Amino acid sequence: MDQVSAVLNDYPQVTVIDHPMVQHKLSILRDKETSSKQFKELVKELAMFIAYEATRHFKLKPIDIETPICKMTAQTLSGRKVAVVPILRAGLGMVEGIMELIPAARVGHIGLYRDPQTHMPVEYYCKLPEDIETREVLIIDPMLATGGSASAAIDFIKARNVPSAQIRLLVIIAAPEGIRKVAEADPNIQIYTCTIDECLNDHAYIVPGLGDAGDRIFGTK
Ligand code: PRP
Ligand code: URA
Repeated sequence: MDQVSAVLNDYPQVTVIDHPMVQHKLSILRDKETSSKQFKELVKELAMFIAYEATRHFKLKPIDIETPICKMTAQTLSGRKVAVVPILRAGLGMVEGIMELIPAARVGHIGLYRDPQTHMPVEYYCKLPEDIETREVLIIDPMLATGGSASAAIDFIKARNVPSAQIRLLVIIAAPEGIRKVAEADPNIQIYTCTIDECLNDHAYIVPGLGDAGDRIFGTK
């Protein structure tokens, strides 16, 4: 069994979006020659694809409408409202793509950075919608490496009385280590990713990964 199948076997709460368009865009995203402008566009596009999968369980109810041809019973969304929560700063790059798909979503922000020595997340900001416990919560961050940042973000949201079943984690690249950390802390959190990469290096960067997502989005290095 290959590594991706092994992770999926252990953690059925993980969905890998293996659509050819996603995989094509992901390869361009990874390439070190890709410009910051194109990188940002790709993060936005991939975020929309991931959100498309992560909202597949949304409930519908019948609605009577009239087309130019005749009356019909169509379907409309009927479930919970949505809160999108980017982990700053790289998660910001995914917000626009998701808001194009779910324009009525509220946006919360969680500010975390990894300490370069310990690789542990350090909190610097947290502002979430007041009624977050009533919403479906989509936590977004391009990278799931050690899983420290995602786990801290999940804990902030759970502390606001959001049940795990209402929380989804949407990432572009996941390392097996990060999946394991999030999944073992709470098996009820669904995780969506475009790929499961090989491992982490000595600096806790994902291999092969794409480098530092925040620096590539914001052109800071
Ligand atoms: C990156 C990334 C995640 C985190 C993942 O952010 O965007 O938030 O690292 O690593 P982890 O799974 O080991 O916690 P970073 O801390 O570099 O901050 P930035 O987004 O401000 O660049
Ligand atoms: N954060 C990033 O931006 N990239 C990695 O590979 C790991 C953490």
